[in-house]
Amino acid sequence: MRRPFIAGNWKMNMDKAGAVALAQGLVEACKDIADVDVAICPPFVYLDAVCQVCKGTNVAVGAENCYFEDNGAFTGEISVAMLKDIGATYVILGHSERRNIIGECNELINKKVKKALAGGLKPILCIGELLETRKAGKTMDVIKDQLEGSLADLTAEDMANVTLAYEPVWAIGTGEVATPEQAEEVHAFVRDWLTNRFGAEVAQNTRIQYGGSVKASNAQGLIGKEDIDGALVGGASLKVDAFMGIINNCR
Ligand code: PGA
Repeated sequence: MRRPFIAGNWKMNMDKAGAVALAQGLVEACKDIADVDVAICPPFVYLDAVCQVCKGTNVAVGAENCYFEDNGAFTGEISVAMLKDIGATYVILGHSERRNIIGECNELINKKVKKALAGGLKPILCIGELLETRKAGKTMDVIKDQLEGSLADLTAEDMANVTLAYEPVWAIGTGEVATPEQAEEVHAFVRDWLTNRFGAEVAQNTRIQYGGSVKASNAQGLIGKEDIDGALVGGASLKVDAFMGIINNCR
C-alpha cells in the first residue's frame, strides 16, 4: 500500500510572518495525522524559518527548486547542501512554471534530480502536458519524453526517494481540474512506464501525486483512483483550512 502524500507548493506567495503563521497552523492541525505524509514547500527565503517551526513535527519541508552544482560562481542559485543544511527534506523539480516560464529542459531537470538524490534530498518530479498537447492527442508522448529525460541514469534504488507529480498544465491555477478519469489514465500510463523502466516493485512503490486545482471538494475523487497517491497543491495550500480539508479527505 502506498501511503498518501500531500505536498503544498506555496510558489512566490506570502511574507515571512504569513509563512511562519501558516506553518505553525499546519503543524498544530497535523499533530494527529499519522496516515498521510505532509510536506510544505515555501519560497527559499522563508525556508529556514519554516524549517524551524516544523522541526520534530510530522510536517516535512521542501524547497521549490535547487541547482545542480556544489558551490561556486552561480549567482542567485541555491545548492542541495544549503537546503540540507537548513533542514529541508524534499525539493520540487521540473515544475511546469519552471519548464514553461523559466525555460528549464529535461536535461537540466535531470541534473538537478541526480544532484538532489546524491545530496540526500527527495525530489518531487513534476511532469505534465500543455493544453495544445492534449488537444493534439500527444499527452502520453510528452509524458514519456519528460519521464525518460528527467529520470535518465537513475537506478531502481534511487526511485525509493523520488515522488512523481502529474500536473496537466491546463489545470494549474485555472480552477479547471482534470477529471479523476483523465488523471488516472495518465497515472496508469506513468506506472506502466515505471514498470518497464525500473521493474514492478519500483512501479508499485513509487508515489504519483496529481496536481492542478486540487481542493477539498475534488481531492477525494482523485485520490480514490488506483494510481493517484496524493496531491501537489498550489492555491489551496495557502490557508490552513483549505489544505487540511484536502489532507482529511484523502485519509
Ligand atoms: P494549483 O497549483 O493547485 O494552484 O493549481 C498546483 C501546482 O502548481 O503545483
